[in-house]
Amino acid sequence: MAEKLWQKDYKLDPVVERFTIGNDYIIDMNLIKYDITASIIHAKMLLKMGYIAQDEFEKLKGTLEELLVLVEQKKFQVKEQDEDCHTAIENYLTQKLGDIGKKIHTARSRNDQVLTALRLLYKDELGQIEKLIDELRKAIGRFSKKYGQVKFAGFTHTRKAMPTDFRTWAMALNDALKDDLRILRTVRQLVDQSPLGTGAGYGVPIQIDRKFTAKQLGFGKVQENPIYTQLSRGKFEYLLLHCLSQISYDLNRFASDMILFSLKDIGYLILPKELCTGSSIMPHKLNPDVLELVRAYHSRNLSRMVECATNTLNLITGYHRDLQLLKETVIGSFQDTKDILRVMKVVFEKIQVNKKACSESLTDEVLATHRVYELVNQGVPFRDAYRRIAQQLGGDEK
Ligand code: ARG
Repeated sequence: MAEKLWQKDYKLDPVVERFTIGNDYIIDMNLIKYDITASIIHAKMLLKMGYIAQDEFEKLKGTLEELLVLVEQKKFQVKEQDEDCHTAIENYLTQKLGDIGKKIHTARSRNDQVLTALRLLYKDELGQIEKLIDELRKAIGRFSKKYGQVKFAGFTHTRKAMPTDFRTWAMALNDALKDDLRILRTVRQLVDQSPLGTGAGYGVPIQIDRKFTAKQLGFGKVQENPIYTQLSRGKFEYLLLHCLSQISYDLNRFASDMILFSLKDIGYLILPKELCTGSSIMPHKLNPDVLELVRAYHSRNLSRMVECATNTLNLITGYHRDLQLLKETVIGSFQDTKDILRVMKVVFEKIQVNKKACSESLTDEVLATHRVYELVNQGVPFRDAYRRIAQQLGGDEK
């Protein structure tokens, strides 16, 4: 049975063991490749600082690269008794290299190790999300080009308000996503600081080169203060979830619009059959499940954001095992956010505009505000013009 890194001369109660591991060993399969990469760079630093010899470094690097291939081929699994990917990596190295493997943990702790692997993963995921946002924005642009001229009655209070067109509507989402990209880039800048070398949260009592590892791992800078570095686990997750839920927020609102607009009685949009799912009992149904799920993924992101915000609530400085749970939360949200971006791209490519229904929606009252302004242009004071048109319409404010 694999040894824990902290194994001493006692045996952990099996119920406690199972509980503290939880599903961490499964979740860590998302992290392991980043931890291997960081371990290679860490070993390089140990060589540079004279803590290991050249041949020891070569062996560590070679074995870590071999492990990376196994991981990529899905031939390596973190085992439950390993606890986490950090232990699995060190155990693998020790199994293959004996004493040399035992040197890899010089000048590091699992706390800065997990921080490093997580930040590498976050940077990767944020890059993917950025690309997916770009692709969706392009699809929205194409939709707008095709249908942008078509005017329809826009709503306030879910009641007809004023004319608008599909260009303004589609570009509203495009602009929102542009702001989301700005938020994303700011969050990525914060995440792009190297935590490696902060150890358990109080530094390590030997000379290391943090700038070297930061640069080699592609981080923009070193995050200096070890206590703050540890504190930013939780804070950054909260920020990430905020950023991801801004994206799902925008998609949620447009999904709701599409559900309403494709309702037969309104009919501005046509959801082609290939975007609709059916009912097991009502043969006539063509349901917008896809958009309903996009909507619901936003609530899931929000609840994850609350989990991130509250996970660290009232914790004193320093590492706490509570943080372990946030890995699953953030990874799940990355997955969901990528999924809704992908599916909304398909929706924008396939959804159609019903020009006839749109033009029929532009009934007299929808132009009331425009008529007020025709009078304003002729010199009538706004409030008088407003009242005159209201009277013509029967006096009721809609
Ligand atoms: N699985 C742990 C986590 O995600 C790794 C760090 C463990 N550190 C510790 N001091 N027990 O937080």
